[in-house]
Amino acid sequence: MSTAHDPWWRSAVIYQVYIRSFADGDGDGTGDIAGLRSRLQYLAYLGVDAIWINPWYPSPLADGGYDVSNFRDIHPTYGTLDEARKLITEAHELGLRVILDIVPNHTSDQHAWFQKALAAAPGSPERDRFIFRDGRGENGSEPPNDWHAAFGGPTWTRTPDGQWYLHLFAPEQPDLNWDNPEVRAEFESILRFWFDLGVDGFRIDVAHGMVKDPALPDLGLTEFSVIAGEDQENHPHWDRDGVHDIFRSWRAVADGYPDPLVFVAEAHVRPGRLAHYLRPDELHTAFNFDFLKCALEADKLREVIDRTITDLAKVGAPATWVLSNHDETRHVTRYGRAHTGVTTPLRDRHHPSDLALGTRRARAAALLMLALPGSAYIYQGEELGLYEVEDLPESALQDPTWERSGHTVRGRDGCRVPLPWTGDTPPFGFSTAEAVPWLPQPENWKSYTAEANQADRTSMLQLYRSALRLRRTHPGLRGEDFRWLDSPDGTLLFERGDGVSCAVNLSEQPLPLPEACTVLLASGPLDSGLLPADTAVWLQQD
Ligand code: GLC
Repeated sequence: MSTAHDPWWRSAVIYQVYIRSFADGDGDGTGDIAGLRSRLQYLAYLGVDAIWINPWYPSPLADGGYDVSNFRDIHPTYGTLDEARKLITEAHELGLRVILDIVPNHTSDQHAWFQKALAAAPGSPERDRFIFRDGRGENGSEPPNDWHAAFGGPTWTRTPDGQWYLHLFAPEQPDLNWDNPEVRAEFESILRFWFDLGVDGFRIDVAHGMVKDPALPDLGLTEFSVIAGEDQENHPHWDRDGVHDIFRSWRAVADGYPDPLVFVAEAHVRPGRLAHYLRPDELHTAFNFDFLKCALEADKLREVIDRTITDLAKVGAPATWVLSNHDETRHVTRYGRAHTGVTTPLRDRHHPSDLALGTRRARAAALLMLALPGSAYIYQGEELGLYEVEDLPESALQDPTWERSGHTVRGRDGCRVPLPWTGDTPPFGFSTAEAVPWLPQPENWKSYTAEANQADRTSMLQLYRSALRLRRTHPGLRGEDFRWLDSPDGTLLFERGDGVSCAVNLSEQPLPLPEACTVLLASGPLDSGLLPADTAVWLQQD
């Protein structure tokens, strides 16, 4: 339900579909639109409001599809534009909105524009769509500056005629020049193309990286630390004020449609800066990476929750909450470790994880996240209780980080393993029985399938379903009311509307529950009026 005052996106629960790994309809081992269409009923059964689909455009898949070679088509492995249209219609019929991923910071090196730029002369209009520069040093053989690329190595690659081009990510992902009006016009046209096809919004990839300081000054970096540089003020390529002009014009495009179309930013920025992206004439929402990265400790969570709500309220934007995505270690694994936060940008491997503990905590975290006011993101498979697959054979690894780091950082494949749907052995209904999924699934995922989860009243899936049903139907969880109540150290207790409250016990002591309350939902068994450690509960005042 959505009204002018309470538009759907302010409280939506959005399910992230990593299409390569969601469901394979044609048996080639890679997920696709046919597979997604065949599982839409499952998403309706789960009870989410919308789906966000990771890039599905034609792409050489140098970075899992974040290297787009044509922004107006579908990768043939995933299907066709006609199937995309059908998917959108069918999703809408089930009450599910559809959000796409747009990748405006860079293209694929196979994109027609970049191929033309390579063929054209230095200084040509074709090259001006990207960021080409002469090198430094003798014969220009040194890169134009000292910036580091996100997956390792320099941000510059030299072309046969001696010039260099900039890529904040892999060399196969040349950065676009957003000072060029042609680039701006092209992306507004791409937005319209998909809006006209019926999509309800976009997740904006690397929204904080699109504008660069034209002087391209050195950063003085000594080691691989492109993400760490995000903390720096007046950074030459992160979070520059110029990005806001772009988003204002994008907002005008979206507002030109009768339906409320939305943007969600992927912007890793310093505390306090996110609200700038969410001013009333810019983007609607942004991912809350502070929440995702936060250790599962009451005082730290409380601080992040407070800061989020207060900062965003200043611009009238709702909070969002997220525990996992396709770039981070799955939270069941993170929460089973001694240090539960995200401590490194790409991975914190080789730290043992107690998966039973991680699962218990993940259940509690789900009830925390889904009780908070605002919108929430579920990464495919978290509702099945999946953990990070940390022992993928090296020969299977596909994330560019593995090669670019000289085989020292395995990268993000462990959270991208194809979903288990049914049955006792791989491919667990992800694909046809003979198919080989593009990443191998663990042999022991039998108890994690959607089928097994459906059959077990106490499963992660049933917990998510119950929580989502309550979120939809209980008036106390629908509005944006939120108030902390006193509770002992190591615990969180807050009230929403209509006498609904949520208690989370992250201490080692059992927590006595408030009196005169009925339990609406609990993440684990209660112990005669006490909330055990690593457990959360939703309560209704009697
Ligand atoms: C974003 C995506 C990530 C991708 C990168 C480059 O961070 O989430 O998967 O590798 O952008 O496009």
